[in-house]
Amino acid sequence: MNEQGLREVVAAQTSISDINGQQGRLWYVGYDITDLARNATFEEVVYLLHNLDLPDRAQLAKLDTFLVRERELHPFLARMMPTLAQNTSPMSMLRTSVSASSAFDPDGWDESPEAEYRKAMRLIAETPTLIATFDRLRTGREVVPPNASLGHAANFLWMLHGSEPDPDDAATLDTTFILYADHTLNASTFTARIIASTLSDTFSAMTGAIGALKGPLHGGANEEAQKMAEEVGKPENAEAYVRERLGRHEKIFGFGHAVYKTMDPRATVLKEMCRQLGERCGQPQWYEIFSALEQTTFEQKGLYPNVDLYAAGVYHMLGIPTDLMTPIFALARMVGWTAHVREQYANNRIIRPGSEYVGPRDRTYVPIDER
Ligand code: ACO
Repeated sequence: MNEQGLREVVAAQTSISDINGQQGRLWYVGYDITDLARNATFEEVVYLLHNLDLPDRAQLAKLDTFLVRERELHPFLARMMPTLAQNTSPMSMLRTSVSASSAFDPDGWDESPEAEYRKAMRLIAETPTLIATFDRLRTGREVVPPNASLGHAANFLWMLHGSEPDPDDAATLDTTFILYADHTLNASTFTARIIASTLSDTFSAMTGAIGALKGPLHGGANEEAQKMAEEVGKPENAEAYVRERLGRHEKIFGFGHAVYKTMDPRATVLKEMCRQLGERCGQPQWYEIFSALEQTTFEQKGLYPNVDLYAAGVYHMLGIPTDLMTPIFALARMVGWTAHVREQYANNRIIRPGSEYVGPRDRTYVPIDER
């Protein structure tokens, strides 16, 4: 096998999500992503990805109660955060904090399926608090404690901005969380499953996944897309910008995909959200710049937008600093990562692909003074 990047290789069976790259379709446990984005809440999707069915009211209420209860940071993390806020980037903070969470999880090293489920829900619950606390501290503002009366997305905006969010903004953010929640065997999820397949712990798997997500070819692309839009400045500049970048053989962030060979269905939803949000908050320029980039990148290179392009514009207009965009991706993908790790534990075999040796052969050791 000489295929770089494991394209087309099936490395795991999963009941969690599925993609058709030719048709541009994505399903979570059989539900079309567009249907879920339009109708579901993030909390329902958390339940769906972990229990493989949508919850009834009682099941959802139980999950909500657990997630709300687990939002507060453990004092160990709260004490660490000022130092992290002074010295690290947001993704490094998240990687370190999630790793540190293993030190005090009430389930400790209990690896029963029930304990793994609780650990997953705690990580999902605490990640927004980590990000918001970090941002408040690094900008010299008071930390805002979680608000038990708000849902996952609204509470994140509350902790980040220190005021109750507009319900439309909260609903918009909630939908982006749904869109980012899972995506089959992408690089970070594969990383998490590889770590879990050695029967290492959930926290190690999440720490590795965050490391994989950070790169600009994966989750880091939403931040790069926003920087690109700011550099482009106005729609008229998009064509020359793309031409110059392609001429230098540089990537256009937020475009192209390893699986989709047409429009990413998440990008279709986000594009419309970006347009509507721009109109609502009086910032139509972002949609105009991103859609000019979309048009010219397709004309010049035949590439379609992926999830990260319009997500960047949406997050920017929700007042989210650019370097928190990838941590927010992680906040949402924590659901998919933990669901995949639980699925891996339930039917495990260590993941160990082969490699093709292309170096020299049949050499004989030469003493150091004779080389
Ligand atoms: N900008 C410029 N050229 C590109 C881009 C891009 N965004 N994407 C692909 N290409 C080029 C490739 O370099 C290749 O060119 P070549 O034939 O001249 O060598 C050609 O298009 C085909 O590339 P693919 O094989 O389809 O892409 P691959 O599967 O290797 O990479 C990837 C996929 C990493 C997502 C790539 O499209 C990319 O780097 N995009 C920009 C970064 C980005 O937005 N990442 C987020 C992806 S979504 C996610 O992870 C959440």
